[in-house]
Amino acid sequence: MAVKQVGIVGCGQMGSGIAEVCARAGYIVVVSEADEALLKRGLASIEGSLARAVSRGKMTEADKATTLKRISGTTSVEGFKDCQLVIEAVVENMAEKRKVFAALDQACQKDAILASNTSCLSVTEMAVATKRPDKVLGIHFFNPVPVMKPVELVRTILTSAETIATARDFSQSLGKSVVVSPDTPGFIVNRLLTPYLLDAVRLLESGTVSREDIDQAVTLGLNHPMGPLALADLIGLDTLYSISTALYEEFKDPRYAAPPLLRRMVLARWLGRKTGKGFYDYPKVKA
Ligand code: CAA
Repeated sequence: MAVKQVGIVGCGQMGSGIAEVCARAGYIVVVSEADEALLKRGLASIEGSLARAVSRGKMTEADKATTLKRISGTTSVEGFKDCQLVIEAVVENMAEKRKVFAALDQACQKDAILASNTSCLSVTEMAVATKRPDKVLGIHFFNPVPVMKPVELVRTILTSAETIATARDFSQSLGKSVVVSPDTPGFIVNRLLTPYLLDAVRLLESGTVSREDIDQAVTLGLNHPMGPLALADLIGLDTLYSISTALYEEFKDPRYAAPPLLRRMVLARWLGRKTGKGFYDYPKVKA
């Protein structure tokens, strides 16, 4: 099936990035949010990211205007009725995601593919909320979406080969490199990344090492673009907490248990870059 129009449910950090790369690749994009205010904020963040691309000489003003024209917003699931592919990027909460999938199943054409950008939750559990589990998969992007090359396609035991083939062609058309993972908690990247990030929080919590030394040791010692605490702030501490909780629930392995400090930071809404405060301060962001 040829994908021409793509729907994105949720226009937060990940949804707005996915909408941007789809529109830049030439797709007609519909994004949804729960209300007009959130939608306005999401669309503004896409515009801001495109403006940044223009200021860095990666895009012309004319291309920015053309890209923005391809994106429209909606607050209703009916807005996705002409999409061949819809990608869900709402909060990492299974009850919410199942509601979204059930509503998309009702509203979308019967051959449309429904995907989740979940970073850890079971795609099978979302698929069985629909009457088309063969057309449901995970398309997991990485943050920041316009920069990061990989996409994990998550294939459940119910996903058809045709669905994977369409999603692969689509992801590659965005300039992404595809890896395929089974529907296992955390898939490939987060399964490996989460214990490492949690260990960095535990090390900080021990009070023996400063945040700067932890991050600098990894940046210089392992040649990573950023240290684990800065990366946790980029990912979002609420997202990291949800991923660790989901992995812990499945495996009951203490490596995945969220350290008390992480839980308290999430309770305090110190969520990292997006709220202006995490392990570091981001004074330019309005809390
Ligand atoms: N949107 C668009 N472009 C961005 C961007 C954003 N949010 N952030 C940075 N960039 C671009 C910049 O425009 C710049 O491009 P040019 O060099 O072509 O001009 C380039 O990225 C580098 O940016 P900066 O010079 O501003 O900053 P930097 O060199 O420190 O790089 C970074 C920033 C790209 C975020 C880099 O530090 C990095 O790659 N960090 C690691 C990110 C990572 O590991 N992401 C995966 C997280 S895990 C995940 O997402 C999975 C999950 O489910 C939780």
